[in-house]
Amino acid sequence: MKRFLIKGPNEAIKGEVEVSGAKNSCLPLMAASILFKNKVTLTNVPFVKDVHTMKDLLISLGAQVDFSEPKKMMTIINKKKHHLEVPYNLVSTMRAGVLTMGPLLGRYPQKKIKVALGGGCALGVRDTNWHLAGFRNLGAINNLEKGYVNISTKSGLIGNKYKFPKVTVTGTSNLIMASIFVKGTHYLKNISIEPEVIDLIDFLNNSGAKIKFIGKRSIRITGIKELINGSHNIIGDRIEAFSYLCVGAITKGKIKVKDINPQHLNSEIRVLKKIGYKIEIKDNSIKISPSNKLKPATVKTGPYPNFATDNMPIILAVLSKVQGKSQIEETIFSNRFMAAPELNRMGARISIKKNKAIIIGQKKLNAADCISSDLRTTFSIILGAIAAVGSSTISRVYHGLRGYYKLELKLKKIGIKIISKK
Ligand code: EPU
Repeated sequence: MKRFLIKGPNEAIKGEVEVSGAKNSCLPLMAASILFKNKVTLTNVPFVKDVHTMKDLLISLGAQVDFSEPKKMMTIINKKKHHLEVPYNLVSTMRAGVLTMGPLLGRYPQKKIKVALGGGCALGVRDTNWHLAGFRNLGAINNLEKGYVNISTKSGLIGNKYKFPKVTVTGTSNLIMASIFVKGTHYLKNISIEPEVIDLIDFLNNSGAKIKFIGKRSIRITGIKELINGSHNIIGDRIEAFSYLCVGAITKGKIKVKDINPQHLNSEIRVLKKIGYKIEIKDNSIKISPSNKLKPATVKTGPYPNFATDNMPIILAVLSKVQGKSQIEETIFSNRFMAAPELNRMGARISIKKNKAIIIGQKKLNAADCISSDLRTTFSIILGAIAAVGSSTISRVYHGLRGYYKLELKLKKIGIKIISKK
């Protein structure tokens, strides 16, 4: 199993990072290809582990998938009728496998779809009850059998009105995909407006779907017969962009992230500015530079446009080195502070009470041997190791490789002393 060895402290790191396409955009876009009878072409594809898992899932359903990693391109042909069973081994390693439920139901409303439920994950309970409630609202029936959910309809999917009890990202994408060919008109309220969901809506609308915003978090979907012209360029990954900006932050360096829409990071940029970092914004790039006086901060996560929960472990690492008392409140997941005990082993002072972290910023962190437990925790620990004095090892970095494209190479390119070991 791959481990990273990082030698610190890395100070005043300078450089530019090309941000890859957003994993959390790419996965639903790939799932949405199921709705197309013609070829779908995706560009700016990040070939991370989860994208390969989704590719394998689509192939297991009957799709033909071709790709060129150097061209960052993937084509998916879903001409043949699909197998309608999504196996547990693929959903258990990547929760986004549940994203196949909506498009399979949308394309085959009269057939029985069988999808393995993913269960919990390192972040806490990851339910799909609102996805299923949304399908039932469209006329579907479902039952649970040996960890698989069977979904079917008696007479197709019929437009209705559904309000999500709380914002859910994949829930929104699943319901949108299920509703594309609905009979009549379907209304969804309290939807996620994360940039990745908007990317999916743009792709589908550019392919002939009729999805219209009728309020900040409300859409109207008018059923269509067929989707055409399936091609799309995936937006830049805002979580990856923020992660590398924070390499600049924690080392008091100058990092520019390119190929990213700065508006997707408005809340995060506000926090960095409050701490005291200088931020320069251009059309497609963000640059961070240090200042002499850094202040602690209060951060609260929330659905977009609020501070992203995925960026929380990243800012946690940064704040562990900003003198004074900071506070973070996590409002999305029940178990998202897994980086804290690892950072504490490097000398950080983070205490967790329920969904809040109190961070007493330290002048110095010391190297330690750490274990990563989920995707964003990996980068958080990497940040700690970058700043810490001495050589740290980080085990189970495969979690990080699920979502960060060419992680080691991109860190090396900006001058981080990192090597990987088996
Ligand atoms: N929830 C329910 N019932 C549901 C759906 C969600 O109770 O039917 C709860 C969840 O348990 C959670 C909250 O609602 O407490 C929000 O979950 P959401 O459904 O929004 O999360 P997700 O769609 O499963 C996506 C991203 C995550 C990201 C979250 C929050 C993808 C593939 N995954 O997950 O990304 O953290 O939204 O923004 O888009 C990551 O990339 O590291 C990652 C974990």
